[in-house]
Amino acid sequence: MSITFNPETKVFDIKTKNSEYLFKIVYDKFPAHTHYGDLLGENKPDFSSPCYSFSPYYKEWGINYLPNDVMSEYVGFDSGDFRATSLRVQNEEGDSMVVLKYKGYSIFDGRVELKGLPSAEADENTQTLELQLYDEVNELEVNVYYTVFPEEDVISRYVKLKNASQKELLVEKLMSLLLDLPHHDYDMISFYGWHCRERQYQRNPLHYGAQNLFSRRGASSHQFNPFFCLCSKDATQDEGEAYGFNFVYSGSYLEEVEVEQTGTTRVQIGLGSDNFQWLLEPGEEFTSPEAVMTYSNNGIGQMSRNFHNFIRDHILPKEIFDKRPVVLNTWEACFFNINEDVLLQFAETAAETDIDMVVMDDGWFGARNGDNAGLGDWYENPKKFKNGLKPFVDKMKSKGVKFGIWIEPEMVNPDSDLFRAHPEWCLQCKGRELMQSRRQLVLDMSNPDVVQYLKDSFTKTFDGVAIDYFKWDMNRHLSQVGSPVLPAKRKGETSFRYMLGVYELYRWFREKYPNAMIENCSGGGGRYDLGMMKYSTMIWTSDNTDPHRRTHIQYSSMMGYPAATMSCHVSNHDNCIEDEKQLQYRYHVALGGALGYEFHLPRASQTAKDAVKKQIEDYHRDYEDLILKGDYYSLLNPYECNYNAYYYTNNERSRILLTFIQQESEDVKTINVKIAQAKEDAVYTDKLTGTKYTGKELLAGISVETEESRYNSRMWYFVEE
Ligand code: GLA
Repeated sequence: MSITFNPETKVFDIKTKNSEYLFKIVYDKFPAHTHYGDLLGENKPDFSSPCYSFSPYYKEWGINYLPNDVMSEYVGFDSGDFRATSLRVQNEEGDSMVVLKYKGYSIFDGRVELKGLPSAEADENTQTLELQLYDEVNELEVNVYYTVFPEEDVISRYVKLKNASQKELLVEKLMSLLLDLPHHDYDMISFYGWHCRERQYQRNPLHYGAQNLFSRRGASSHQFNPFFCLCSKDATQDEGEAYGFNFVYSGSYLEEVEVEQTGTTRVQIGLGSDNFQWLLEPGEEFTSPEAVMTYSNNGIGQMSRNFHNFIRDHILPKEIFDKRPVVLNTWEACFFNINEDVLLQFAETAAETDIDMVVMDDGWFGARNGDNAGLGDWYENPKKFKNGLKPFVDKMKSKGVKFGIWIEPEMVNPDSDLFRAHPEWCLQCKGRELMQSRRQLVLDMSNPDVVQYLKDSFTKTFDGVAIDYFKWDMNRHLSQVGSPVLPAKRKGETSFRYMLGVYELYRWFREKYPNAMIENCSGGGGRYDLGMMKYSTMIWTSDNTDPHRRTHIQYSSMMGYPAATMSCHVSNHDNCIEDEKQLQYRYHVALGGALGYEFHLPRASQTAKDAVKKQIEDYHRDYEDLILKGDYYSLLNPYECNYNAYYYTNNERSRILLTFIQQESEDVKTINVKIAQAKEDAVYTDKLTGTKYTGKELLAGISVETEESRYNSRMWYFVEE
């Protein structure tokens, strides 16, 4: 049993393979947190009640229970706790306070599906604890769920609200997870960024006050990624404590990390309040999205691997796509200038070089010759595809490649048939100017008619066409977030309902085209989150394909997400493809994740084409399964030194793929790179040079000579004899 309750001590105990989570019901009323960390023996920490001045107390328990000073599990607003709280609900009196007291619990195998929302899949080891709390005055039931994935050391949290009263309740703030940690001697690792510079790594010591991450953009965003880590100050990849957190949601969110007078750290993850409100009529329920957390006492690297395993086993679509196709995407080569002839050339060259699939990017539909027109009109441009889409796609496939196509369902250009027919289908606030971004507006995905229109258009255009892959883009954020079809008192629900509409359309795609995978994209990695990963096999990591920038973006991405989700393309900025060394450097960087290509391959020289063919052969034969399914070990951090180094290995540790990237020019020196996962008694051959190494040698470290010039890379592929 992973979850137990001891009726004597009133302690709930949630165990994973290597971690333990404990809380206790004190005074039969309050769930008080006591531990999240290593597995403990008999001696478990007990509830303690510090006492600070100015803290409000209840008559019954006095200073023996001060809501502001204790560690809690889930806390109502204005309930005597001045720290960030989890749930604020306004009742008809105008009061927003919520006081939650323990009512009961249930423990069961498996999990409950979250209606309309992405969530982690259960397996035979999954168990769930439902902790039932109740606010007497509002007659509000609050069930807090703990779902445990013991093998991956992950615990998830979400809440379900039910208005059991006869009056309306307005939910003003809602969080899915609250975790109180007993001190604040942690560093926080998080990722900030912008378009083309997603997931920039930062590591800072926690300080008194709030250090929050958030998105108010209606998308999880390029600006802050929902993954973050709290680790001990001395934590390295291999040593120290590391807690990882994430949110299974793709819209606006709030992550609060707060240190207050007690010196404890409060972590909260949820929808927050800026872009969220929900009206609960009598009898109505509301379920929050799911947040996940993991704990490692073997450094940051193990925390990452916990999440990699968890995402691969419980989040990513289980499907025939064990492998990802190596794609050739038209965007950076052609932008909007695509037509049948160019695409057919792409297909022929792709087939020659053993590329699996051609992806026709933006520019194929409506009046789409630039970013000013066409979004919303999901039929092929008759000038570009004279005989229609089907014969064209059949012709492409007859060349021996698969076929992928770009869509951006959530958006509309003002210059489109759709907007002319239905201006009321955009997000908008009465009397306010409709603000454009990338010359487009956002469709009101909270309106079922809009979602139905999209389903009907795609059915008409794609049915009977042998499409193997959709690239689903989203190229602006949400502003003027009002839905014309919602009544005034429900307007604050637009942002969340928008996401429900998006997820509904994703699920429809998956069911309607079960053999087609979805690559998610939002101007690159603007929705690089667990919500999207539930439906999309991989995500376009960034519009920035410059390998130097990519080294940074990919390093951070790997801290929270597996390589299997990370689309990485070899591109041809600065016309480097004809330079053998530069082509290899781009390939080495792209081998951090799922390999693809994005340049005008038909125009490349035969030498470059031959090199690409060899790259793909090596990838499919030797590297692909290690990268997509193996264990990842990071050795050097490119934000802290001039190098990036990491390796992937299989379970048996009989194959090890090591990559070393040098970023800038420097005086030549020798770097020692230790392969701690090598087996001491084994002998390995580096298949790229034929050199033999004993396991001991790899453990002690191999010497890598750096170069005077910038942008260098090397790989080793060690295979046990
Ligand atoms: C976004 C994507 C690109 C490309 C363009 C097309 O920027 O990230 O890869 O698909 O849109 O407009």
